Amino acid sequence: MNKVLRQLRLYGLIPIITIDDAKSVRPLAQALIKAHLPVLEITFRTQAAEEALHIISEEFPEILLGAGTILTPENAEKATKAGARFLLSPGFNPRVVDYCREHSITIVPGINSPTQIELALEKNIRVLKFFPSEASGGIELIKSMAAPFPDIHFIATGGVNNSNIATYVAFPGILACGGSWIAKEKDIAAGRFEDITVTAKSAIRNMLGFKVASIQLGGIGEKDETAIEPVFSELLHQPVKKSNTTIVVSDILEFKIPGTTDLSHTICLTTNDYERALFYMQQQGYNVQDKTDEQGLRELWITEVIGNYSIKITKAGVHEQR
Ligand code: 3PG
Repeated sequence: MNKVLRQLRLYGLIPIITIDDAKSVRPLAQALIKAHLPVLEITFRTQAAEEALHIISEEFPEILLGAGTILTPENAEKATKAGARFLLSPGFNPRVVDYCREHSITIVPGINSPTQIELALEKNIRVLKFFPSEASGGIELIKSMAAPFPDIHFIATGGVNNSNIATYVAFPGILACGGSWIAKEKDIAAGRFEDITVTAKSAIRNMLGFKVASIQLGGIGEKDETAIEPVFSELLHQPVKKSNTTIVVSDILEFKIPGTTDLSHTICLTTNDYERALFYMQQQGYNVQDKTDEQGLRELWITEVIGNYSIKITKAGVHEQR
């Protein structure tokens, strides 16, 4: 997988933009940068597309810029000359694919069947757009189709939105999801760029799926240690698990037992995806330590301690499997 595709994997989201007035691409780019989502695809469906690509590539080099609806080699040539670093097409057009391969252009052709995946494999293409996703069967079809093709990754578009994004990105075969819901044509036309920032942030939130999973309290005393178990298990009927170092209530509340000199508290969150979570936190300027605990479980620790509280992040589902 090349660098551009690896970057798309980390962003996990591609706003698909159809633009009528090329000038509105400037505030749009700023709205996405503000949301920490500097990536977009401009569709070749309007007269303004080529100029909008030029503006972004010249004025916003930090944006990972793509072009969509590439139906002909001529579109592919225009889009790349205007600065697009990756191209997508709704279907599998061998002429477009061959042109892009000859010119070392990253092309993600559209497919929605195993036969089309095999055609792509013949051309050595392993990242494919799954389109139209929801109408073709959505994530369930992708999962069943992916079984015989473990090396293939999909960019799902068509009907993906804030309410179903989490179910898509939880599947490792999904490289990213694209969609027009993040920056709707009517919001761009009406100049509602603040709303676009809000929607982009909530798309990131749903994709990463951060959830508070448990709280570890440090520095309990000898007396607390003997009181905790009967209160939680007998009075409040909660499952209590005791080890040499902790008392865990309902798999959520964890008391560090005395003897450990650690008096700090830890808030544990889960995410849908380590790599994307790490990437987005670093994008926002946080220092994050990528560690492995004594049981071999990966943990991301935000280095900045907030007061007496540390924050650690693990992958959703991993705790329950312990
Ligand atoms: C595409 O170009 O991939 C689709 O038009 C995006 O579909 P959506 O509008 O349902 O997000």
